[in-house]
Amino acid sequence: MSKIILTGDRPTGRLHIGHYVGSLRRRVELQNSGEYDKIYIMIADAQALTDNIDNPEKVRQNVIEVALDYLACGLDPAKSTLFIQSQISELCELTFYYMDLVTVSRLQRNPTVKNEIQLRNFEASIPVGFFTYPISQAADITFCKATTVPVGEDQLPMIEQTKEIVHKFNSIYAPETPVLVDPQALIPEAEACKRLPGTDGKAKMSKSLGNCIYLADTADEVKAKVMSMYTDPLHLQVSDPGHIEGNTVFTYLDAFARDEHFERYLPDYANLDELKAHYIRGGLGDVKVKKFLNNVLQEELEPIRNRRQEFAKDIPEIYNILKKGSDTAREAAAQTLSEVKHAMKIDYFDDKELIKAQSERYLK
Ligand code: TRP
Repeated sequence: MSKIILTGDRPTGRLHIGHYVGSLRRRVELQNSGEYDKIYIMIADAQALTDNIDNPEKVRQNVIEVALDYLACGLDPAKSTLFIQSQISELCELTFYYMDLVTVSRLQRNPTVKNEIQLRNFEASIPVGFFTYPISQAADITFCKATTVPVGEDQLPMIEQTKEIVHKFNSIYAPETPVLVDPQALIPEAEACKRLPGTDGKAKMSKSLGNCIYLADTADEVKAKVMSMYTDPLHLQVSDPGHIEGNTVFTYLDAFARDEHFERYLPDYANLDELKAHYIRGGLGDVKVKKFLNNVLQEELEPIRNRRQEFAKDIPEIYNILKKGSDTAREAAAQTLSEVKHAMKIDYFDDKELIKAQSERYLK
């Protein structure tokens, strides 16, 4: 069986280093591993509209920002199909048929949807499109028969929902030769990468909280954000013993620091464990640790920022890449949709046998 990747992001803002360690970095590695037959990376504008109904301009503007972030990180249109969700009308058709396979109470139990409904104060008036976006996400994942979905941990309930739809579809409509493919989520192994906290120590990076480090931030912006980061509120003097747990600077180091960074920027320590041990013992100041983190982040982000600036010089070409990718994605979606309609017995005009059998029945 082919190995196929599909994943994507809502274009509601520029991508930040939480997206990077949570999924982007992995996607580029998977792309370059050569182990996958096809890779689809989707800008989920239609999904973004489900909770930004009154702000289409925001979504429109951020499509290009997300595309630039993708290219800057090393996603390569020669190896990965980058496309825009709304341009694949077949996804709506798939969603419509999958809706028959899901109950309202099942959607109500989806933890991600539950959480987001609360976050957006939607309780009293949930838009139907928002409520059903897990079904549309199942269409995103299945149109290309994705086997692997690299995502952040918060997306696991979406993959779970997709699996249920796949199983139900196959068992009802295609019990002998399955039409849809069961996808596997791929989430980061390191705890720190699963949910990188904001620079203020809050559980999540979010644009509205102003606690993100963006891939497009300048070197000065990154430095300023690192130097004002939340650490250990009990670590008042350098000599005080410090805490690592919940200390954002160390969480970021967990996500980004490698032994070779110590050689380059902090040769007194062989690795992160030694640095942590010193901090816990006392005698290691926050500023020193922050400066090290700044060096590590700058090394990782500089090439990304530079590539971003290069790509931004030719914006029409970026739209071109997305258009070509969308054409490719549509072909795959049309193929799957025709298999789905065949399995559901709604492919009347392609079914010569049907036409013949019905006419014979009436001739008798
Ligand atoms: N829900 C994802 C997010 O909020 C975006 C997304 C839409 C997605 N469709 C997808 C991710 C399909 C993986 C697979 O970031």
